[in-house]
Amino acid sequence: MPARTWKLAVASALLHSSLGLARYNDVCSRIATSLSASSALHSPGNDSFTKLSSHWTSSSDESPACVAEPRTTDDVAKILKIVAKTRTPFAVQGAGHATNRGFSSTEGVHISTQGFTSVEYNDTKKTVTFGAGLTWDKVYEALEPHGVNVAGGRAPGVGVGGLILGGGYSWHTNQYGLTIDTVEAFELVKPNGEAVEVTHESDPELFFALKGGGNNFGVVTKFTMKTFPQGKIWGGMITYGHPDTFAAVTAATAKFSAEVTDPKASLLSTVTFYQGMPLINIQLFYDGPEPPAGIFDDFLKTESAASTVATQTFSSMINNVPAGALHGVRGAFLGFAAPAYSLDFLNAVNEQAFTNGAEFTNSSLVFLTLVSEPFLQDILSHNKHDTAYPFNRAEMYTPFNIFIAWADPSKDEWYKQEIEKIRDVLQAKLIEEGYEGVTTAPVYSNYALWDAPAERLYGSNLPKLQEIKRKVDPEDVMGLAGGFKITPKAMIRDEL
Ligand SMILES: Cc1cc2nc3c(=O)[nH]c(=O)nc-3n(C[C@H](O)[C@H](O)[C@H](O)COP(=O)(O)OP(=O)(O)OC[C@H]3O[C@@H](n4cnc5c(N)ncnc54)[C@H](O)[C@@H]3O)c2cc1C
Ligand SMILES: *[C@@H]1O[C@H](CO)[C@@H](O)[C@H](O)[C@H]1NC(C)=O
Ligand SMILES: *[C@@H]1O[C@H](CO)[C@@H](O)[C@H](O)[C@H]1NC(C)=O
Ligand SMILES: *[C@@H]1O[C@H](CO)[C@@H](O)[C@H](O)[C@H]1NC(C)=O
Repeated sequence: MPARTWKLAVASALLHSSLGLARYNDVCSRIATSLSASSALHSPGNDSFTKLSSHWTSSSDESPACVAEPRTTDDVAKILKIVAKTRTPFAVQGAGHATNRGFSSTEGVHISTQGFTSVEYNDTKKTVTFGAGLTWDKVYEALEPHGVNVAGGRAPGVGVGGLILGGGYSWHTNQYGLTIDTVEAFELVKPNGEAVEVTHESDPELFFALKGGGNNFGVVTKFTMKTFPQGKIWGGMITYGHPDTFAAVTAATAKFSAEVTDPKASLLSTVTFYQGMPLINIQLFYDGPEPPAGIFDDFLKTESAASTVATQTFSSMINNVPAGALHGVRGAFLGFAAPAYSLDFLNAVNEQAFTNGAEFTNSSLVFLTLVSEPFLQDILSHNKHDTAYPFNRAEMYTPFNIFIAWADPSKDEWYKQEIEKIRDVLQAKLIEEGYEGVTTAPVYSNYALWDAPAERLYGSNLPKLQEIKRKVDPEDVMGLAGGFKITPKAMIRDEL
């Protein structure tokens, strides 16, 4: 472009960004003066500001103008009304495990739910009501003295908010279904600031929409879930490091997937290339002090490099899972729908992890992990009510996940293309096996890359979700926050 036009463009961009900053600062001051004494607003530099806006992968971090830490639904309502009125971009963050930048981060007003930390167990109803700011490990620990549990995340540090609002796969999914299938109520601050308890009885449409609809319908401050009895469990992680053992481990995973029908048994296979080396980690779980003979024998008899498998409390198993924050690296999840795990498919998974891992090493790879989650065929039959995710329960697909971390930001786009290639190869393998549905099946939003189309996430539920959206959020307030959006095109007001 000509120099003069270019100078004008730069000047206008500078003006715009400084005006923008000034505007957000003004919004932040308005929020600060409106909040009750129990809540807080943090400015850049404050320890809480940093803590409440940081993510598991630091590539999901942005620098907000301020961080609001509301502790009452009233204060959440005040913040929402102010950002709505001023059309200020904002974010809602729980424990920050989103791997997509902008999904729980913003340069505007960052709302943290971490002030909501209550846990109340109702022994009569066998339900638990807990705050949206908690991580699953804290909920498990609080329930342990009561001898009960809930169906939540499988690693320490994962937030309750994002996992539930996306769907949720847990160690108990084979027994009780998806996490959302066990949710009985949401305490929700609607986009217009109204605080309501949403149940199937009070508002069946909104109840449906919150079960997979992410942050499109407001800010959830509490969840109520069904509990079930929980005693000692058997489980942990076995690490296989010697390539000579991979064939036996892979065959054991295929056999488990094809033959084991005991819903108390579950496993998660992670095939990894890390620090120049291939390795396979298998996490095993049995909901009882000992698994019946036969279920996991093939894994146990194969020589391993390390094992944390033991009879232990559920929370001790969870807290032992190595899932530390990945600070200073880039990260991405790219999930797809996998209906079954044949030996052929699992061999292709190994091949993809190990050959691509070796090839990516000179491109600042930190690790490449391909995660297989062989759930039982009937996990989608435990729901009492319809849910936003998955949009089709007639066929079961497990959430397969490609999980990658790298160091060099200039490689972001290249890695996106590379993991899409891995997905395409593995999907083609499933199609070859006769599963044509994999390219149209529901994709799990919590493992999806930022550009997953709404049709793949919400499919045939999209029209209904958009109808609910029109009613609950006519001003598209939640469109000011990032994440997967279901807003009908005609309603979109802002270009963020
Ligand atoms: C180490 C690790 C282990 C994982 N294990 C599992 C697993 O076992 N099973 C599984 O299903 N998934 C798992 N996941 C994926 C997980 O479900 C998502 O990362 C999820 O988004 C995490 O929720 P969060 O609250 O920590 O994330 P955040 O980044 O805080 O939020 C994610 C999204 O949810 C929205 N959100 C969060 N809280 C609220 C709220 N209260 N109201 C409205 N919107 C809200 C945010 O705006 C954002 O769009 C795992 C992820 C990681 C990194
Ligand atoms: C951070 O903010 C809190 C409350 O807003 C305040 O009490 C504290 O002194 C601040 N700390 C720093 C280091 O600024
Ligand atoms: C538990 O639920 C019962 C039945 O709805 C209710 O009567 C009781 O007040 C609840 N208890 C607590 C501690 O909330
Ligand atoms: C990395 O290594 C692969 C194969 O070893 C090679 O094809 C590729 O060109 C290398 N890339 C870079 C950036 O050096």
